[in-house]
Amino acid sequence: MKNIVILISGRGSNMEAIVEACASQQWPARIAAVISNKLDAGGLRYAADRGIATASVNHKDYATREDFDAELARTIDGFAPDVVVLAGFMRILTEGFVRHFEGRMLNIHPSLLPAFPGLHTHARAIEAGCKLAGATVHFVTPELDHGPIVVQAAVPVLPGDTPDTLSARVLQQEHAVYPRAVRWFVEGTLQVNGHQVAQTEGEAQLVVAAA
Ligand code: GRF
Repeated sequence: MKNIVILISGRGSNMEAIVEACASQQWPARIAAVISNKLDAGGLRYAADRGIATASVNHKDYATREDFDAELARTIDGFAPDVVVLAGFMRILTEGFVRHFEGRMLNIHPSLLPAFPGLHTHARAIEAGCKLAGATVHFVTPELDHGPIVVQAAVPVLPGDTPDTLSARVLQQEHAVYPRAVRWFVEGTLQVNGHQVAQTEGEAQLVVAAA
């Protein structure tokens, strides 16, 4: 049984998709904890209601990023994680923290990386006139939103899209691909070679949603 620790900052819909897939697909894993940097993150209630351990580490209680990350790492380590899953965890992480979990920490970013790292991805994709947008699950490395890519989902950008309509279309695909990526990790079917990640069972690492 592998231990999955999920970090959230808000509603936690990706976390929910992972919790549900882990149970319904009988992964060789359990959700060991859901941890938030915000005490009022909606997703904490969802996890607690399902008997999952929860914890919060409020970043406002720490004078420096390093202090916060050290306490966060201690809290995560308390749940003996095999994989740390960032699911809408809205904090920039220090290099020390990332190195501590390197190779066993995943993130989902709502763009087709390497396009649009950082914030406001949907507004930027619309503004740039992109015809495709999407989401990327990647291993976390010290450079923000740049780690080896595990899976991507692409959706069309439609005439008249707003950041909200595009984000809803992308989020639907996030809920499909993030559980898949975490399952691959806990099943041990990912092979990382530099920036390239292969799925050893030949499962699709690209989803293209119909227009
Ligand atoms: C998602 O769009 C994810 O890609 C981004 O933050 C959002 C989190 O949503 N990193 P949720 O909390 O999983 O509902």
